[in-house]
Amino acid sequence: MQIFAHRGSSGTRPENTLPAFAEAVRIGVDGIELDVQLTKDQQLIVMHDEEVNRTTDGKGAIVNKTLAEIKKLNAGSWFSEDYSSTKVPTLKEVLDLLAMRNFRGILAIELKTDKEEYPGIEEKVSDLMTSQKWPFTYWYSSFNMSSLERMYALEPEAHIDFIMGKSEKKPPMAMERGFIKGIHPNKEWVWKHEAEIADFPLAVRPWTINTEDEMRQCLACGVTGIFTDFPELAASIKRNK
Ligand code: G3P
Ligand code: MG
Repeated sequence: MQIFAHRGSSGTRPENTLPAFAEAVRIGVDGIELDVQLTKDQQLIVMHDEEVNRTTDGKGAIVNKTLAEIKKLNAGSWFSEDYSSTKVPTLKEVLDLLAMRNFRGILAIELKTDKEEYPGIEEKVSDLMTSQKWPFTYWYSSFNMSSLERMYALEPEAHIDFIMGKSEKKPPMAMERGFIKGIHPNKEWVWKHEAEIADFPLAVRPWTINTEDEMRQCLACGVTGIFTDFPELAASIKRNK
């Protein structure tokens, strides 16, 4: 069972920041997940929400802010004063950190295009990812199937997964498109389909698996991987199973 640090080690560091990704590398995770959005001046930044309100000291939508404006924000104090100098990273800054730390796992890049479409984001991400060689593997994922179709057209060899909630309509959508390799369902979908997971035709990697009980349940039903905010805990549960 692969362990993916969801937004980095986001249970122990401010999510989607360099400290969260550095900590995930230190732990030795199989994979790291992050969320990509596009600023007003067309820069790729790493943040989960479409607004900066929850994870910074600012207010407003990313789509209405320039990178320079976003770089002025404090992205750590909401989590702990230990991270008061932490900034919102660009995707390139995260890639450089992972390369510098010689991360050899999987980087799962989520295109956050389900609420804000960010026209052109797929080309920008693909241009950056293919601009050089990385020591790690990278995957693409999204809740937005159209975004994934665009990504597939740009990089037909890329590993692409579909993220979903609990809807029964979503797995068939993924299965009828041959280029989708796996699904990232809400864990509730997995609990409902536990007996079918082992033979499910696509890889299943649920989110967000944060308690010991959930981690053990995932190990028992044979999911391919999990997204967790507590990768160090997941690694110890997996080691001692
Ligand atoms: O890939 C799984 C996970 O990232 C989806 O949920 O909302 O945390 O991006 P969210
Ligand atoms: Mg995500």
